[in-house]
Amino acid sequence: LAIWYQWTTRTELPELSKVSVLMRQRNKVENTLRAMQHAGPGTLQVISDFDMTLSRFAHHGKRVPTTHNILDHRLLIDEDCACNMRKLLKIYYPIEIDPSLTSEQKIPLMVEWWTKVHHLLIQQKIQRDMLAQAVQESGVILREGYEVFFDRLAELQVPLLIFSAGVGDILEEVVRQSQVFHPNVHVISNCMDFDANGVLRGFKGPLIHTFNKREGALLLAAPLPELRERPNVLLLGDSLGDLAMADGVARPRNLLTVGFLNDQVEERTESYVEAFDIVLVKDETMEVPNAVLKFIT
Ligand code: TMP
Ligand code: MG
Repeated sequence: LAIWYQWTTRTELPELSKVSVLMRQRNKVENTLRAMQHAGPGTLQVISDFDMTLSRFAHHGKRVPTTHNILDHRLLIDEDCACNMRKLLKIYYPIEIDPSLTSEQKIPLMVEWWTKVHHLLIQQKIQRDMLAQAVQESGVILREGYEVFFDRLAELQVPLLIFSAGVGDILEEVVRQSQVFHPNVHVISNCMDFDANGVLRGFKGPLIHTFNKREGALLLAAPLPELRERPNVLLLGDSLGDLAMADGVARPRNLLTVGFLNDQVEERTESYVEAFDIVLVKDETMEVPNAVLKFIT
């Protein structure tokens, strides 16, 4: 068996031997991979976060905008609003990623951040027709190798649930413009509510922030018929809060979690290795998720 393991990882998954890949229990990862491979793609679902997971954290030394930050475009919001949103980002983003605070401590502050930002956005009378151009001009870019990831899942008819605390309409436009909005893609996010004239008047459904994805999973993901009867889950995220995205899966059998550690690496490595099965440190590519997919399907 030991020889087989070596063969599996060395020959089939050399990507897991890169220095940027950290695993708490390599054996557990290998066992899960083999079990998923054995069960086949008909039993698989993929659940992924969007901002800084499917989209890159940085590109050519510059931060890539999140879906909220894509809205920072003069077609959509004025300078004053942009300035206020940036101020809020400066205050709340360090709290979001602070390893010394618990999720319970962060939750009220995240609700505060999202509520304030959404309120600012609603005041701007954003027009739906302008979103596509803002996305086009935003510089947003998905992780290298995203085409293979999306196309392979579509080809295998494996559902891909994109579960985001970002802005759903922007997220969908990014995926559409990247030409990978295949029929197997499902989105759960904060979706804009427009009036009859196509002007933003609010957000639909319950607010989703980084640390209440469990509630969203139980309420919004669990009822999706496409995801039922698929007990094997590949989960991708960049926040510890993203681990709760699989909490809606009814009878999970094998769960493999992959965490992108983009920022504050030194301070957060320990907690990420503790929480995710595979941790990818400052890796802007889909190389490992693609290799995992190739192996299990
Ligand atoms: P995600 O669930 O797709 O990762 O989206 C959530 C991210 O959005 C989270 O990491 C913080 C980020 N964010 C902004 O960049 N600007 C904002 O104004 C807000 C409210 C969130
Ligand atoms: Mg994210």
